[in-house]
Amino acid sequence: MDIKNLTDDFGVEVRNFDCSKKIGYDELNLLKKTIQDRHFICFKNQKLDGDTLATFTKNFGKLEAYPEKDKTKGKIEIFNVSNVSEDGEHLDPDDQRVILQKNNSRWHTDSSYRYLPSVFSILYGQETLPPEVGGQTQFSNMLLAYDHLPEDKKILLEPLHQVHSYNDIRRLEPGLPELTYEEKSNFPPVTHPIVRVHPDRNFRKSLYFTSNTSLEIGGMSLEQGKELHKWLVDYIGQPKFCYTHKWQKNDLIMWDNRVLLHRVIPYDYAKYRRAMIRGTVEGEVPVLGPFSNEVRLNNN
Ligand SMILES: [Fe+2]
Repeated sequence: MDIKNLTDDFGVEVRNFDCSKKIGYDELNLLKKTIQDRHFICFKNQKLDGDTLATFTKNFGKLEAYPEKDKTKGKIEIFNVSNVSEDGEHLDPDDQRVILQKNNSRWHTDSSYRYLPSVFSILYGQETLPPEVGGQTQFSNMLLAYDHLPEDKKILLEPLHQVHSYNDIRRLEPGLPELTYEEKSNFPPVTHPIVRVHPDRNFRKSLYFTSNTSLEIGGMSLEQGKELHKWLVDYIGQPKFCYTHKWQKNDLIMWDNRVLLHRVIPYDYAKYRRAMIRGTVEGEVPVLGPFSNEVRLNNN
């Protein structure tokens, strides 16, 4: 396995490693350490399908299932992140599966609408686009972004929570059909602290918010919340916090949802095909903030 850093701050590229094969104990430990330290891994030249992607993903934890039953994928644990159907048909831009792809162009972290949001996402490029037409996946480092915040913003954000609501994706993308009662009941709105504290990183702080589930910030009026949210989006989009992944076919990328936000750079959905499959590792712990019990106990 050959590992090379992608930027000074985060990300590595891995070559000469086959993710479809059973992984040895030492190799798995090295990968776990690498994702913890560098937050993003691109495995080059992989050959995977839904089954082998699921097997690889399970090395890092339990597979998370998609909230909407059988709408965008064949297997509930492998999401089609794609404007191409399972049968290879280029979908209409108004198709709900494509509308969900458009929503991915807003900065977010996967499954933040869960009380226990996912830890890792693992995305395999089956049909990719040349960067000049869009379709790259961009990442922003929330540890770095928090460290560089002006002091007054750190103080302002410290006690705040954002609302994350799967159903509110409908507010942002009115073309999507209503969720069923069962789907809604499975994913009631949650809030997470905007300043996230990481006990597994020596209680370091990062930012934690999204643009694709809701724009509401608890404790603020809707207007104030939107204004602060817009400031955050502009702030974390600065190139000094970001890495842009320019896809090549058969890249498999893996990232840590706890410390990175990501988005897809929009492309012409009617003109170009982009097909990816994703395995997602379930979260096991809630998002902790500066006022969570575990964090306060550590401070005392
Ligand atoms: Fe995503």
